[in-house]
Amino acid sequence: MENQLDKSRPLALIVDDEESIRNTLADVLDDEGWDTKLAANGYEGVDRFKKASPDLVFLDVWMPNLDGIQTLQILKELNHQTPVVVMSGHGTIDTAVRATRIGAFEYLEKPLSLEKILPLLEHANKLRKAHSRTSQLVEATEMIGRSEGLMQIKRQINMVAPRNAWILITGENGTGKEVVARNVHARSTRCNEAFIAVNCAAIPEELIESELFGHQKGAFTNAIASKQGKFELANNGTLFLDEIGDMSLKTQAKILRILQEQKFERVGGVEAIEVDVRVIAATNKNLKEEIEKGQFREDLYYRLNVIPFELPPLRDRGDDISDLCDYFFQQFSLELAEPQKRLSDDAYLMLKQYRWPGNIRELKNMLERICIMIPDEVIRVEHLKGLLPVDDEPRPTPTLNAQAATLKQAKTDFERAFILDKLEENQWNVTKTAEAIGVERSNLHRKLKVFKIDPKQRG
Ligand SMILES: Nc1ncnc2c1ncn2[C@@H]1O[C@H](COP(=O)(O)OP(=O)(O)OP(=O)(O)O)[C@@H](O)[C@H]1O
Ligand SMILES: [Mg+2]
Repeated sequence: MENQLDKSRPLALIVDDEESIRNTLADVLDDEGWDTKLAANGYEGVDRFKKASPDLVFLDVWMPNLDGIQTLQILKELNHQTPVVVMSGHGTIDTAVRATRIGAFEYLEKPLSLEKILPLLEHANKLRKAHSRTSQLVEATEMIGRSEGLMQIKRQINMVAPRNAWILITGENGTGKEVVARNVHARSTRCNEAFIAVNCAAIPEELIESELFGHQKGAFTNAIASKQGKFELANNGTLFLDEIGDMSLKTQAKILRILQEQKFERVGGVEAIEVDVRVIAATNKNLKEEIEKGQFREDLYYRLNVIPFELPPLRDRGDDISDLCDYFFQQFSLELAEPQKRLSDDAYLMLKQYRWPGNIRELKNMLERICIMIPDEVIRVEHLKGLLPVDDEPRPTPTLNAQAATLKQAKTDFERAFILDKLEENQWNVTKTAEAIGVERSNLHRKLKVFKIDPKQRG
């Protein structure tokens, strides 16, 4: 039935345990040009939500087992953008406030009436159109860049994505680890199921089990209701374990056990829950080093690291900067409804030479700042000077040795430091260096002999 739905019609999900309410509401929506999906309880609602990705949800508060507030929490985790209208017959201010805090779009008191519903439908329809525009943008633009380093990653994604293999992504901050994980999911057979991201570093240790595995009502003091964990939410889909290098050893042990068995109990529960998840893990740490320091379990490393993805830092894929700038300038100009900016040649060179410790995220933030603060359409070096942070690790510049006894000695010391510096800049390539500093190649070779510098060894 699912694919018979007319894609141009908006879709609403109605979750209510009262059949008469479900049917009446569905009739009203049908009259207004909406398709509907119906669910008689919270669990069914979550399931339909995952499968059908509705544009709007009507959710009853009072339902047995998983109530409306708990269901709302889950729906918001699955997709926080979908508007959810919470409905209640015996409304109290308290429930309304709680629902709004969790992100309810609107709170409706029963009995429902057309005057209450119609404006909501109109609003939700507008949101739907706006979202479909932005999601098209996001989809079309996911991995920008044509550098050899990135092309290799793209080839790897195409090869590995459909195969269900587990993946470990490493790379510095802001290199696009999450982008890669989402691309893998989007190109996998699981693409219509959930992609659940968990920031392992952000969960307090005492909550990690309940976050990942869920808990039964009453399992601990604050467990006022049962809750599904991330593993359950990601069932049949992809679980993205982010910042995996920042978990405590205790948590690592727990995760390892689940990953090995793909079976677990909720906290306070007795029933074993079996799941089928593809795990993609990411970290900006060097896990081999962490293992040596005793901070990361070797067995967990081998369990996760079936296929390694290593994202090169932006400074090693300077060829991507031009494409990325065009792309981000285009994105921001659309958002701000302003003409698209571009870089002058020397401004571009300046960006290419910068180290980008924060990688693509840093570049993106800087370009956004430029779009907001600089009215000119062409961005020149002068504009960048105030914006580019001072390199935190500048290349050591050759300095004068004032301690040298003679002028000749001072000159020799400086010359040696200068040549070393330039060689490093040119990847220890003698021909390139000679060209760069304006001396004959043979001349530079002679100097290298005198100074006992061996570029082959250094390179
Ligand atoms: N190839 C790319 N094309 C376009 N945008 C990208 C690309 N790579 C990364 N980005 C953007 O750069 C930002 C950082 O990417 P992402 O969050 O995936 O990095 P990360 O490696 O997970 O960083 P962190 O280690 O800080 O969590 C995001 O806004 C993302 O959309
Ligand atoms: Mg990340």
